[in-house]
Amino acid sequence: MIKRVFLVIVFSLAVVLSFGQPKLRPDNIEEIIKAMTDEELASLLVGAKESEFEFFEGTAAGVRSIPRLGIPATISCDGPAGLHFYPFRENTDKTFYCTAFPVGTLTASSWDTEMMEKMAAALGNEVHEYGVDMFLGPGMNIHRNPLCGRNFEYFSEDPFLSGKMAAAYVRGIQGNGVTATVKHYAANNQETNRTENDARVSKRALREIYLKNFEIAVKEGRPGALMASYNKLNGEYVQQSYDLLTTILRDEWGYEGVVLTDHGAKEGTVKAAKAGCDLMQPGNEEELERMLDAVKKGTITRDELERNARHVLHYIVSTPRFQGYKFSNDPDLKAHAELARKVAGESIVMLKNEGGTLPLKAGAKLAVYGVGSEDFVAVGIGSGHVVAKHVANMRESLTAAGFELNQDLAGYYKAYVELDHATKRVAGAMDWLMYESWGYGKKVSEPDVPLNQLPQQAAESDAAIIVISRDAGEGNDRTMVDDFELTARDRKLIRRVSDEFHAKGKKVVVILNIGGVIETASWINLADAILLPWQPGQEGAYGVADVLTGKVNPSGKLTMTFPIDALDHPSSANFPAFPQRGESEEGLRKNVDYTEYAEGIWVGYRHFATRGVKVSYPFGYGLSYTTFQYSKPVVKATSDGFTASVTVTNTGAVAGKEVVEVYVSAPSGGLEKPSRELKAFGKTKSLAPGESQTLSFSVPAYDLASFNEAASAWETAAGNYQVHFGASVEDIRASGSFTVKKVRTWEVNNVL
Ligand code: BGC
Repeated sequence: MIKRVFLVIVFSLAVVLSFGQPKLRPDNIEEIIKAMTDEELASLLVGAKESEFEFFEGTAAGVRSIPRLGIPATISCDGPAGLHFYPFRENTDKTFYCTAFPVGTLTASSWDTEMMEKMAAALGNEVHEYGVDMFLGPGMNIHRNPLCGRNFEYFSEDPFLSGKMAAAYVRGIQGNGVTATVKHYAANNQETNRTENDARVSKRALREIYLKNFEIAVKEGRPGALMASYNKLNGEYVQQSYDLLTTILRDEWGYEGVVLTDHGAKEGTVKAAKAGCDLMQPGNEEELERMLDAVKKGTITRDELERNARHVLHYIVSTPRFQGYKFSNDPDLKAHAELARKVAGESIVMLKNEGGTLPLKAGAKLAVYGVGSEDFVAVGIGSGHVVAKHVANMRESLTAAGFELNQDLAGYYKAYVELDHATKRVAGAMDWLMYESWGYGKKVSEPDVPLNQLPQQAAESDAAIIVISRDAGEGNDRTMVDDFELTARDRKLIRRVSDEFHAKGKKVVVILNIGGVIETASWINLADAILLPWQPGQEGAYGVADVLTGKVNPSGKLTMTFPIDALDHPSSANFPAFPQRGESEEGLRKNVDYTEYAEGIWVGYRHFATRGVKVSYPFGYGLSYTTFQYSKPVVKATSDGFTASVTVTNTGAVAGKEVVEVYVSAPSGGLEKPSRELKAFGKTKSLAPGESQTLSFSVPAYDLASFNEAASAWETAAGNYQVHFGASVEDIRASGSFTVKKVRTWEVNNVL
């Protein structure tokens, strides 16, 4: 009784105190800011106590509520391949599964910004319908080195392609009225010691490679949020860098959204807030204490608090939660699954198709090898993992496509994988489900398949399919041995299967179900066809089957180089997986405490193409079931850059789409430049045999500029520019040229 009276008094007091207080509206943000105490401002800038969002177990953060002023708590959840949270909740039998779309690397391989936007729109719809306000994706760091453990979440080694894809992704998500977050800004290119590593990068490489993709995404996608990465950049934590978070991001690029930390707490909370990091995520009491202490001591000013709070409040009023949206908890997962399958099929890269091995003939008898055929990897590990209700595997998709599978083999892998999963589940019980929801421990390792049945399998089948699977993710970089390189078992499998099948005149198809680049040069000749679906999401196995049957004509192209050896990447000289053997203690920690980006701008094809280093597959490469011819292009100088057009004709026998890559070679003299740089790209619609389409491009002079460190300016040199229209960076089909009459420069702040 006493307790009830007490509660009534407290409640009435709260009502009385909040009576007459302004309540947050989209048009009274300034009034609310003025009404906030210093303490309230500080609390708005340090994320929500987890208890505010108990029901979103798994991963969540957000902004704390301030009921007095009508400020609701808002919530954010991971991505980027789909919404990430635990599918079970207390006190309900309802499940909360999400669609696992293909990973960033595969979707970018479509080179199709329209399709990217469409897929992200469906993903954003799940964000909206599950009651989430902010989505922590897209991930868009540059593939500096093939061994970065999180490359699967990211798009490309090229900043232009990465920026364009990210902008499309952001537009798709935000079309739903929810916020997208571009991450991890910036130079977060390795997982080893990711929270402390100092990336030491030249100003030129930063501007041209590691910031350029964010610049494009910010200007063209207008994301509502940006996540500052954990690492240091040139000696200072990105989260605490005024140069990065304010001078470049806001003053130069005109960013208007909210800036948040990557998840975890660094000691320099106050420094971060002063630098322009608006929101500490997920936020803890110590950080709040530090902020309150700084307010008391005057080491953070009221103006600084108000500036950050303004960004946060603008975000809050934009959220579905603030607007009272009644989310359904019931997105159309069936429609999204269909879209995920389509995106996967359309984005797959065909690396090899000797003698028209693919498409396979309808109803072909297949012997399918590799544990990945059963335990197919849909997405990678960590916050980027997505818990889908069902992940299709190759056994299922090939059967549904009408192929006749060798049942002994299929049964062998099925039993092997089921036993592995059952053992792990029993051992870990419920904890295991939670653990698994991050993708940890899911992947089953390759068994030593009994190969004594091989001759019979080869005799009874029309072709062999070998699935090579890899998993990787947050917190760890990949290794050279047994990951970049094939394992001894992979090698044995490919060699023995190809020997046996080839001896009987049968074909061998390899499916690369991987999250990052692997070594291919040593075994390419053993396969007749190679498909690269990466980690293609929950329906990806169906996407692969669609390509194998010819229902989908592959039109994906590589967004990075496949080197012959990982060491051919200059960045490998300074990457944690490659310790300098026999060095001093300090030498061994070289790429742990700090990493010298000594290669500068020579990342990916910029290095391989310019220096003529042979590769296994070049940037931009990908085959089709048809052939395309490029017309003589039209290239014209404009008052601001150039325009170009080229007509593509389908000269083969089946319908197909072609990606046209536009590379520019700048005039020599002045700054040293890559021999070719991607400056535009386009994709045709599906062209029937004999059909043509003209693709047009327009490139502003600013996009042609290189960064001159001495002048702290972007510079577009005067002279003659060659424009190449390629089916890959090495396969130039047509060229034109134009002239820039006068040098153009854009001065920027001399920072970092
Ligand atoms: C990851 C972010 C992620 C965050 C929240 C961090 O460890 O680096 O990408 O959004 O966790 O789960």
